[in-house]
Amino acid sequence: MWMSFYVAVLAVLLIQAHAQPGFISINCGSQDGYTDQSLQINYVSDADFINTGVNGKISSEENSRHNTQRQLWTLRSFPEGKRNCYKINVTRASKYLIRTTFLYGNYDGQNNTPQFDLLIGPNHWGTVTIQNESITQTNEIIHVPSMDYVQICLVDTDSGIPFITAIEFRTLKNDTYVTPFGSLELYNYLRCDLGSNTSYRHPFDVYDRVWYGPYYPCNFGKNWKPLSASISDDSLNQTDYKQGATIMSTAVEPENDSSPLVISWEPQKETDKFYVYMYFTEIHLLTTNETRIFNIMLNDESLVQNFSPRYHIAHTINPTAAISGKEIKFSLERTGNSTLPPIISAIEIYRVIDSQNPETFQGDVDAITSIKSAYGMERDWEGDPCSPAAYLWDGLNCTYLGNEFPRITALNLSSSGLSGKIDSSISNLTMLEKLDLSNNNLNGDVPDFLSQLQHLKILNLEKNDLSGSIPSALVEKSRKGSLSLSVGENPYLCESGQCNEKEKKNTVILIVASICGVLILLIAVAILWIIKRKKSKVEKFTDSVALNHQSDFSEKSTEKDNSFQQGKSQMYSYYDVLYITNNFKRIIGKGGFGTVYLGFIDDTPVAVKMLSSSAVHGYQQFQAEVKLLLRVHHKNLTSLIGYCNEGTNKGLIYEYMANGNLHEHLSGKYSESPLLSWKDRLRVALDAALGLEYLQTGCKPPIIHRDVKSTNILLDEHFQAKLSDFGLSKVVPDDGGSYVSTVVAGTFGYLDPHYHSSNRLTQKSDVYSFGVVLLEIITNQPVMAGNEETGHISERVNLMISKGDIRAIVDSSLEGNFDINSAWKAVEIAMACVSPNPNERPMMSAVVIELQEALATELARTNHDSGASIASISVKVDTGYMPLAR
Ligand SMILES: *[C@@H]1O[C@H](CO)[C@@H](O)[C@H](O)[C@H]1NC(C)=O
Ligand SMILES: *[C@@H]1O[C@H](CO)[C@@H](O)[C@H](O)[C@H]1NC(C)=O
Ligand SMILES: *[C@@H]1O[C@H](CO)[C@@H](O)[C@H](O)[C@H]1NC(C)=O
Ligand SMILES: *[C@@H]1O[C@H](CO)[C@@H](O)[C@H](O)[C@H]1NC(C)=O
Ligand SMILES: *[C@@H]1O[C@H](CO)[C@@H](O)[C@H](O)[C@H]1NC(C)=O
Ligand SMILES: *[C@@H]1O[C@H](CO)[C@@H](O)[C@H](O)[C@H]1NC(C)=O
Ligand SMILES: *[C@@H]1O[C@H](CO)[C@@H](O)[C@H](O)[C@H]1NC(C)=O
Ligand SMILES: *[C@@H]1O[C@H](CO)[C@@H](O)[C@H](O)[C@H]1NC(C)=O
Ligand SMILES: *[C@@H]1O[C@H](CO)[C@@H](O)[C@H](O)[C@H]1NC(C)=O
Repeated sequence: MWMSFYVAVLAVLLIQAHAQPGFISINCGSQDGYTDQSLQINYVSDADFINTGVNGKISSEENSRHNTQRQLWTLRSFPEGKRNCYKINVTRASKYLIRTTFLYGNYDGQNNTPQFDLLIGPNHWGTVTIQNESITQTNEIIHVPSMDYVQICLVDTDSGIPFITAIEFRTLKNDTYVTPFGSLELYNYLRCDLGSNTSYRHPFDVYDRVWYGPYYPCNFGKNWKPLSASISDDSLNQTDYKQGATIMSTAVEPENDSSPLVISWEPQKETDKFYVYMYFTEIHLLTTNETRIFNIMLNDESLVQNFSPRYHIAHTINPTAAISGKEIKFSLERTGNSTLPPIISAIEIYRVIDSQNPETFQGDVDAITSIKSAYGMERDWEGDPCSPAAYLWDGLNCTYLGNEFPRITALNLSSSGLSGKIDSSISNLTMLEKLDLSNNNLNGDVPDFLSQLQHLKILNLEKNDLSGSIPSALVEKSRKGSLSLSVGENPYLCESGQCNEKEKKNTVILIVASICGVLILLIAVAILWIIKRKKSKVEKFTDSVALNHQSDFSEKSTEKDNSFQQGKSQMYSYYDVLYITNNFKRIIGKGGFGTVYLGFIDDTPVAVKMLSSSAVHGYQQFQAEVKLLLRVHHKNLTSLIGYCNEGTNKGLIYEYMANGNLHEHLSGKYSESPLLSWKDRLRVALDAALGLEYLQTGCKPPIIHRDVKSTNILLDEHFQAKLSDFGLSKVVPDDGGSYVSTVVAGTFGYLDPHYHSSNRLTQKSDVYSFGVVLLEIITNQPVMAGNEETGHISERVNLMISKGDIRAIVDSSLEGNFDINSAWKAVEIAMACVSPNPNERPMMSAVVIELQEALATELARTNHDSGASIASISVKVDTGYMPLAR
């Protein structure tokens, strides 16, 4: 008796102590490991495989529902980060069955089942959609890792918090489940132990494949008759697929002896490729007058002829090439001299997952991983650095050439709070072209290895505490123009050979242009910049403006440098904004996107628009778009001077326009200033048209304003009109597509009805809005009045046009002081712009020419009888209307 007790204890100990070869079984969200006695599997905690996420437990109700399966009780969820990854060490080039398990079990008490994506390495594996909180879901894949680890990543797709319950790896024989490319995903849980009344896995299956019994989706057999026999493991002669005697001891045959056994399905996609594995054995010993012979047909073509499974010998039959088609049909048909119908014991169906994204070059992965740990970086850097490109690590750029491993080409760790020395692992990023370590607390030398990075073209080490001399090889490269080197604001750094211990020079700035021709000009710019830099913080903006004006001469050649340096000097902290606006003291405007405040930068008034949180939420591309708009300069566009982008504090800083907006002038708000004359009105219209024309044809890529209206046309101290509020316009993608599909935005009355109905935003949408503004200018009537049908300004003007009386159309407060032809021309332009059919609306360049003609006609008249018009507003006309920054 003692003896048997010992044996029992020993057996348990053996199971626990014996690491199962080829098995990795991870119980996610658990503190420690345990052995599942009925599965005879050792589960371990997931703590060694991941650093992110939080542990969770399914609700007690769900726990009692699943009380025999301890691996389902805990899970790990990922409320933070886009992509979170498990990294699991494996044997490279071995074949693995990998299974992920998900049971929501209302762990968060929210009763809110999520959906998220699952990646294996850099490739999409599947989308996990939890439909029922009580039901366990699994994804299985047969995969050969190309690295000595596998990353399993959960991707937040904004449909709830990703989580995972268990991860299991089982090593398979590598000459089974062969596919020449990609991996094999178990299709719709179709691994069926036919004829069985229950499901099985380990220890009944040595590879721990889960064989589904009579339930969905394995209950597809209609008019099938289950058969069973008792087969012991010893008495079954197995194939390499090692199905196990339990799986093989049940089978099905057709209820009607003469019918075929048919297994068929319609793939979701005709191009999907399948591999199918069918398992056979003769479970009963046949008498001498009995025979069981059948043909196996695939889509009505013969796959195997006169097949006769042998007693207790397992056969695996699988088409060796992948199958695809609209319908896939296997038919097992009894031959004429067979006394028994066909039989089948089990079937597995897999779909090929094409793994197209190669992993990042291992040397780069190792280097960036050690950089991450050297600086203790807490970035959301998870999974493969470069792949898939959609989830590229923040601060990196990579090259993707065909099937080659992606390589890291840019590393931007600017303003990342790094301290210590420049990490030597950077030397292993051998394809690096751009390295930005500016604005950190790095100290020590500028290492020599930076000059050995053959492809490095831009190196920014500004604003650190680096010391010593700059390696002469780097200086040499920058002299030759092959490297753009920025080392400013490192108090203890000096150019090689020029270190003077006693007088530690404060700043050395080196900007070397990549093109020799503009070298001298750039040095001038640099000197200007150094001088300006020394001034106070808030003055920064004048520097950048100066730089912009300079760079207008050579925009192309300095663009690279600008994008590195300029962006920052036009970025203001929230603190700066508080200072500039004197704690948001004076409101000067309110719009759909936020409130506008008066501010001062260095005594120059500016308009600071703080975006409302709803606008901030909708514009994730904020920074990229702002950077583009910072480069847009035209005398008829209010300049964007800078921006603030700190979390939800997002603001835009514009030049201040002293004379308010067009709408205010037309509505007579400034009673002290006279209403605009016809000539002045045409000038304002022409200015606005020029601004729009520039956005459409002068900008690459073109910009759609989206909110052209009379309140967005501002007048400066000289009454020159400028289009404003284009800070949140849409950039038309430069890929030849000429419209963007967006949520409809804009102002009622000015909104292009075609855009409104089609959601297709084009440049012609702005032309429509401009037409409405022009009608306002002409008539000084409200855009909407009366009922909706006839209330729009274009409808009302249309009615009057048919009467042919221009004096009834034009604003009566002008008291007839206008040239009639000029007025007709303006009305024609406006009506063409508001055509319902976008194709009939003119291009802005045509509008500009027509308005110039209308203005010329009016000028000819006023020059004849000067004094007749109230020409008290001085508008500078003679500088010409050619846009400067073409
Ligand atoms: C995986 O392998 C790496 C390198 O061989 C090792 O440093 C790491 O500790 C291993 N991880 C686990 C969880 O065993
Ligand atoms: C979820 O599954 C359980 C068990 O199968 C079932 O009782 C329940 O009705 C299902 N709930 C929903 C919402 O489908
Ligand atoms: C099986 O894997 C080994 C390495 O583990 C490899 O050498 C061998 O060629 C593989 N066999 C097949 C058939 O792929
Ligand atoms: C399944 O079938 C076996 C043998 O046919 C039988 O012993 C067992 O009770 C059945 N189990 C269930 C759950 O029906
Ligand atoms: C198992 O089957 C194979 C091939 O059919 C045969 O060569 C082998 O001898 C059989 N082994 C046993 C133990 O029956
Ligand atoms: C086969 O032979 C047995 C007797 O040995 C007999 O009972 C049975 O009916 C025969 N079956 C057929 C299909 O002829
Ligand atoms: C059954 O018939 C086929 C031809 O239809 C023949 O090839 C085969 O040998 C026959 N088998 C037996 C056991 O008679
Ligand atoms: C990566 O490339 C894109 C497009 O070329 C560019 O906008 C971005 O600034 C680059 N990022 C870094 C870190 O260089
Ligand atoms: C660079 O990579 C090599 C080989 O992969 C490695 O031996 C070396 O330690 C790495 N160097 C640094 C500084 O990480």
